[in-house]
Amino acid sequence: MRYTLNFRRCILGLCLSLLGLSVLVFFGNFISDVESDENQHKEMYQAFKDGKCKSCHPAIWREWEKSIHAQAWVDEIYQEAAKQVAGREKSCDPCHAPKPILVTGIGKMPKLRNVQRDSGVSCLVCHLDSDGAMQGPPASAETNFHANVTNPIYKESTKLCATCHGQPSVPEHDQVSSFLKSKFATENKSCATCHMPLVSRLQSTASYESITGRKHTWRGSRSVTQLKNAAALKIEFADKKATVTLQNKAGHLLPGGTLRIIVLDVMHLAPNGTQNQKKQVLISEKRRNRLKPDEKRTFDFKVNSGDTLKVRLRYQLTPKTSEPEWILMAEESKIAP
Ligand code: HEC
Ligand code: HEC
Ligand code: HEC
Ligand code: HEC
Ligand code: HEC
Repeated sequence: MRYTLNFRRCILGLCLSLLGLSVLVFFGNFISDVESDENQHKEMYQAFKDGKCKSCHPAIWREWEKSIHAQAWVDEIYQEAAKQVAGREKSCDPCHAPKPILVTGIGKMPKLRNVQRDSGVSCLVCHLDSDGAMQGPPASAETNFHANVTNPIYKESTKLCATCHGQPSVPEHDQVSSFLKSKFATENKSCATCHMPLVSRLQSTASYESITGRKHTWRGSRSVTQLKNAAALKIEFADKKATVTLQNKAGHLLPGGTLRIIVLDVMHLAPNGTQNQKKQVLISEKRRNRLKPDEKRTFDFKVNSGDTLKVRLRYQLTPKTSEPEWILMAEESKIAP
């Protein structure tokens, strides 16, 4: 009798501890699953580090390497800003050194990577999936090194970009929501139309033929060419009035980033050469007056016949950028009839 009771207790205890153990194993696995995709796909991280991606994809590597995505972590402007944020590991770093977004989920808030943070938004961030395969647009060749998986999202990349450039909880880094309201979105354009120009080349050293892909350069506000395409200036005269029109030609709010400032200068010169009017307008997120996509903003001035109106648009990368380093975006000059 006594023996059976002890035996029963013993069985019960054993069952309970087995249960406890399996709960532990279950959650343990769960936690390590979330935390260690870097361990699961060690060969891919190692290959990235050892220059294997570079040796089979030299053209794409060269483009990416010079892009701001490659510098998203080491970028001094970023590090300077993040230093001042308590809890940056939760609120800042996840997008500047993310885990692969196919692993954490397209559209979901990215998670901070444990390894190789210096490589910022690396190849693996945009292409590695949870099976260790490389996802992309349709491939033309095979490799033993990694599986190729075709995913239509790469041809309409806005959703991919929105994972970092359009998180609702991070409005200061959102180019996507204004883009979606622009005419570009209805014209079937994507972020890649302007930031990843089409190029015909070998996708890898093992490919048989050149096919059309997209440049991995992501030129933005650090490119003079992009800045010259970003806006248009026009001067028109009617009666004794001059109208200056500033038009946004970027696919989203202009300036696209919250640190940037656009400076519009208007100089008004009388026929004898004296400067009799000057106006300066600063456009930035801080002033809450960024231009919406497609927006045309007008400024009116009084003029007399023979007066010259000179307008100039310049771009200031950060509030600390000194005037000699501002980039000229557009310039226009006209004499009133
Ligand atoms: C949802 C992803 C995400 C999060 C979270 C995030 N960033 Fe960014 N960050 C971006 C993207 C995308 C850009 C580039 C586009 C832009 O400037 O809006 C960027 C650009 C920047 C830049 C401009 C860098 C330059 O070279 O001019 C700074 C500074 C910056 N982030 C700081 C921060 C700080 C500080 C935090 C935390 C408070 C943070 N970011 C959180 C995605 C993010
Ligand atoms: C031994 C050579 C080799 C190595 C190493 C290699 N790749 Fe590839 N990769 C290829 C080939 C071949 C293709 C198919 C190219 C084609 O379609 O012409 C390819 C295709 C891709 C694609 C497109 C997939 C698709 O379905 O569209 C991506 C993305 C990619 N590689 C990323 C990487 C990354 C990141 C690394 C490093 C971790 C890497 N590759 C290492 C040979 C290689
Ligand atoms: C995993 C996050 C992530 C994804 C996905 C992503 N970006 Fe970025 N992107 C960033 C961060 C972070 C920066 C800012 C880096 C910095 O300045 O420090 C940035 C910067 C940029 C810049 C600014 C370049 C400059 O010189 O000012 C452009 C343009 C850009 N991204 C375009 C794109 C496009 C187009 C896509 C989609 C194909 C995309 N990004 C996808 C995180 C991302
Ligand atoms: C910010 C996200 C992002 C990063 C980072 C990135 N790619 Fe891509 N990649 C894309 C997109 C989007 C496409 C689809 C372009 C298209 O429409 O052809 C693509 C296409 C490709 C292709 C197919 C060929 C082509 O041009 O379409 C290969 C191969 C590739 N990427 C390899 C790489 C390698 C290698 C790296 C790192 C050196 C890298 N990618 C970094 C987003 C990215
Ligand atoms: C019609 C062309 C066009 C389209 C479409 C477009 N952009 Fe831009 N983008 C520009 C131009 C021009 C600039 C440079 C002016 C500026 O800084 O806003 C720029 C700048 C940027 C910057 C740099 C902002 C900064 O302050 O450094 C980022 C990031 C960016 N774009 C992301 C995107 C994303 C994400 C999409 C898709 C939702 C997109 N762009 C669609 C033309 C475009």
